[in-house]
Amino acid sequence: MSQSGQRNREFEFTPHDFARVRELIYHRAGISLSEIKSDMVYNRLGRNVRRAGHRTFKAYLDFIEEANNALEWEAFTNALTTNLTAFFREAHHFPILAEHMLALQPGIKIWCAASSTGEEAYSIAMTACEIFGTLKPPVEILATDIDTRVLSVAKRGVFPISSVANLSDERRTNFFLRGKGGCEGSVKVCNALRKMVTFKQMNLLSLNLPVEGQFDAIFCRNVMIYFDNPTRSTILEGFRPLLKKSGLLFVGHSENLNYVSNAFKLRGNTVYELNDGQSTAARGKQ
Ligand SMILES: C[S@@+](CC[C@H](N)C(=O)[O-])C[C@H]1O[C@@H](n2cnc3c(N)ncnc32)[C@H](O)[C@@H]1O
Repeated sequence: MSQSGQRNREFEFTPHDFARVRELIYHRAGISLSEIKSDMVYNRLGRNVRRAGHRTFKAYLDFIEEANNALEWEAFTNALTTNLTAFFREAHHFPILAEHMLALQPGIKIWCAASSTGEEAYSIAMTACEIFGTLKPPVEILATDIDTRVLSVAKRGVFPISSVANLSDERRTNFFLRGKGGCEGSVKVCNALRKMVTFKQMNLLSLNLPVEGQFDAIFCRNVMIYFDNPTRSTILEGFRPLLKKSGLLFVGHSENLNYVSNAFKLRGNTVYELNDGQSTAARGKQ
């Protein structure tokens, strides 16, 4: 970091502080921050340093480590996650999910494992309503994320109207209420969809699911890009017993699991199945 860069900054932030942040977030969330993310870390954590009343990053980091206060750790983690998401992001997955669900018995369970602000989980819920032709399909969705701030947005189900601009008129009418008065410019996910999804805080490094049994599908999209291979491998091993033999694992477009774990094999279109599993298509033929 240049001397002038440091002088212009409100808080002292040394390369040693940056290295400390990288180590802490790696151990807490598995996130491998690259060496070029120093400015991002300063900008995101600077707000926490200010709020906690410290003058240097060193003082702030000493404080969170020494106090070991759950709320401060939460704020630290929340500040360092990247939460970009959208309704029907990577849209090719949803027809595959729809076909998969149709081949299953009622009581379908889906886990959205890094749900961010909820758009992905609600897209799964909309797909289920559409394919079963009802607002009460036989599908339960568990949506988890490490970041408590995004989970509170997700639970509320209120989004800027721009976030549904690319959805069909039919989807906007069937699944969203348009904000009026003080809520102009926003939409709210309808109650039927909200009832289908349970949001819970959960760290993928320590899988402690609040539900029994296995899932018919796991969505774990656009989060493994933040992890290194050993972390990815541990998480995928954790998924193995949680997915039914006929279950599907959906990952993000740039997440290739082939070099990371032999628990899953590619079925196509960034959808994986268990290596020792049995696809719904194969089951149908028996
Ligand atoms: C880029 S968003 C992806 C959201 C959604 N899956 C999608 O594809 O649109 C990544 C999410 O992963 C979450 N995340 C990062 N590390 C995590 C961890 N160790 N455990 C659970 N969630 C984590 C972040 O909080 C963030 O909301």
